[in-house]
Amino acid sequence: MSTFSPFQSPDGTETDYSRKLNVSSTHAAAAREKGNLSVSRTPLSLWALIPICAVAVAAGGYLAGNVGWGPNLQGYNAVPELPGGEGNGPPPLSPYDPKVWVAKGKAEYGTVCISCHQGTGEGQPGQYPPLKGSEWVLHGEERLISILLHGISGPLTVNGKSFNGLMPPQGGAKNDAVIGQIASYVRNEWGNTGSLIYDDQVKVVRAKLASRTSPFSEAELKQIDPEGNLPPSKRNAAPAEGAAPAAGGPAPVAAGAPAPAAAPAAASAPAPAK
Ligand code: HEC
Repeated sequence: MSTFSPFQSPDGTETDYSRKLNVSSTHAAAAREKGNLSVSRTPLSLWALIPICAVAVAAGGYLAGNVGWGPNLQGYNAVPELPGGEGNGPPPLSPYDPKVWVAKGKAEYGTVCISCHQGTGEGQPGQYPPLKGSEWVLHGEERLISILLHGISGPLTVNGKSFNGLMPPQGGAKNDAVIGQIASYVRNEWGNTGSLIYDDQVKVVRAKLASRTSPFSEAELKQIDPEGNLPPSKRNAAPAEGAAPAAGGPAPVAAGAPAPAAAPAAASAPAPAK
C-alpha cells in the first residue's frame, strides 16, 4: 500500500466505505442548507431592518416632540407649567393664602381656646362666652386683637348674656402671626363672617398696647372703636401675584385671590365688586 486514505484502517487493510458515504452526504446536506440560508434569510433581514429603523427613529422623534417624552429639544413642552400649575399639581400655597392662614388658626384654636370656648364656638353657659355671633369677635379688628393680646376680666355681656370671668391674655405666648391666624379663624367659623387679620396688623396693635400690663375691662374695650378696622394688610395682596388669573376671571377658588372660603375677608380686602 503506497497511499494513505483517512478512510482506511491504520494498517491499510480496510476501507470504511460507510463512513466515507456519511461524510460526503453530510457535506451535501450542509451545502444545500447553506444555499437555502444564504438566499432566504440574510438579504431579507438586511433590507427589512432599514425601514424598521427608519420608522422607529421617526416615531421616537415625533413622540419626543409632541407627547412630552424625552428632552424638550424644541423648546415646546406639551405639559406647560401654567401659573395654575396644571399638569404639575397646584403650586405650593403662600402661608398668607386665606385658606392656609385660617387653617393654621383653626389648629391653634384647637390647642389654646377650645377648652373654654368649645369646638362649637358656643362656650359654656354662665362660664365661657360664645364666640359664635359675638360682637366682640365680629366688630372692629382692633378690638378682637386687643382682647386676644391682653385678655379680659370682670363683667362682660356677650350676645345679651352676662359673664364675669377671666379671658387669659395670649400676647405673651403667641406671636403676631398666630394671633392673626386665630383671630381670622374665629371670625370665619360657625357662620361668622369677618375680615381676615394678618400679622402686620397685629403688630400695629401690639405696639400701641406695649405699655399695657393688665387684662381689659368691658368699659375699656368699649372705648376701642367698634368699627376700628386697621389699615389693610399687605399680606392680602402678596399671594395674588402670579398665583391666579385676575379677579373677575372665571377661575374657581384661586390661591391668594379673595376666594369663596375667604369671602368674608372681602369686608376689608379690596373686594371684587362693591
Ligand atoms: C381659660 C378659659 C379661656 C381660654 C383658654 C380662652 N378664653 Fe376667651 N374668654 C374666656 C372668658 C371667661 C371670657 C369672658 C371674660 C369675662 O367675663 O370678662 C372670654 C372672652 C373672650 C372673648 C370676648 C367675648 C366673646 O365671647 O366674644 C373672646 C373674643 C375670646 N374670649 C376669644 C378667645 C380665643 C380666640 C381664645 C384662644 C386664643 C380664648 N378666648 C381662650 C375664657 C377663655
